[in-house]
Amino acid sequence: MYDYFESHALISEDTWYQIQKYCNFSPEAMKQSRQCIKADLEALRNVEFLNIYNIYAPNCFNYSVTAKPKPGSILNFDPCSNYYVYTYLNRPDVQAAMHANVTRLTHDWERCSYIITYWNDSPYTIIPVLKELMENKLRVWIFRISYRRGAMVCIRKATMDDLLAMQACNLLCLPENYQMKYYLYHTLSWPQLLYVAEDYNGKIVGYVLAKMEEESNECHGHITSLAVLRTHRKLGLATKLMKAAQAAMEQVFGAEYVSLHVRKSNRAAFNLYTETLGYKIDDVEAKYYADGEDAYDMRKQLKGKQNHHHGHHHHNHHHQHGGGCCSGEPRSAEPRGEAKSDPKASTKSESKSGS
Ligand SMILES: CC(C)(COP(=O)(O)OP(=O)(O)OC[C@H]1O[C@@H](n2cnc3c(N)ncnc32)[C@H](O)[C@@H]1OP(=O)(O)O)[C@@H](O)C(=O)NCCC(=O)NCCS
Repeated sequence: MYDYFESHALISEDTWYQIQKYCNFSPEAMKQSRQCIKADLEALRNVEFLNIYNIYAPNCFNYSVTAKPKPGSILNFDPCSNYYVYTYLNRPDVQAAMHANVTRLTHDWERCSYIITYWNDSPYTIIPVLKELMENKLRVWIFRISYRRGAMVCIRKATMDDLLAMQACNLLCLPENYQMKYYLYHTLSWPQLLYVAEDYNGKIVGYVLAKMEEESNECHGHITSLAVLRTHRKLGLATKLMKAAQAAMEQVFGAEYVSLHVRKSNRAAFNLYTETLGYKIDDVEAKYYADGEDAYDMRKQLKGKQNHHHGHHHHNHHHQHGGGCCSGEPRSAEPRGEAKSDPKASTKSESKSGS
């Protein structure tokens, strides 16, 4: 959550850093340090006027409820829907039907009670607490909120710490695998172009590995590899990863187009590229893959130079290119004689690009 806040410029890098440094995210952690609580409160203060589940959603400015709520949809989001739920759950007949509020509270029945202002010893799981309450004949209402698995996954820029998990995901998903130095080469050269999908447990469930290439003065991006774990497919994660990498290519490097390779038989990826993302077949490369399968060489036009501006990410200044299209400083990190374009390297393990 905090990574998401930081990468979306909702909290400062400093607050994020304090949280990483002082907060203990292990399941056993019951108490947090003073510094952690301070940084956490600062983060909450920064996002308090936003809907953190949909930061682009409008705010609710009219708290009055009508007999019937406005019909909502994903496109026509009603930011006031919470107030209808609140009112509904406080109706005596609804409470009676749920056997709730039998003690007749002197205040409204609330989703989050402000009677306890800060839960200092919140445990990782409250199942033992529930057991104790129930053993002592206290009535507990347990309900399950169903959510799409995809909604609990965040797309964020990859860091050095993610490279092993990206490699593990690649090994599980694709026959085209790379040595760690190839991941390192990408992240050192184009740190803006590596994204991961991370689930609520901090597990990496997908990644995109991309780079910049310069051919005959035409600057373009290239998708080296993309994969999403089987458990998390068809949730739109690959689409989001691809869009994030494409946007960075365009905005940070001024890429004119983005290219990739895909196996002719890979229907899922082919549909993703053509139908969802608008790529077109540019060429067919015969026997491109180590097992002899042909590849479609695909391209998608980006807006390119007109969108290209410096200093897009203030904390990435030193990674911005210095004039020439792809001439970012970190390109000097490119290992000699290897992987200039697709990893058509000699070893089988680094044979061909996954995408
Ligand atoms: C290809 C892959 C990355 C797609 O990931 P994903 O997160 O499931 O993709 P999305 O949910 O974003 O799907 C977007 C679109 O892709 C297409 N698609 C995805 N999976 C598909 C499938 N099994 N069959 C047909 N089309 C599929 C659909 O057009 C889908 O749009 P829809 O949901 O509106 O139907 C994933 O299947 C994967 O990791 N495969 C193994 C590795 C791989 O092939 N990588 C690409 C190498 S070029």
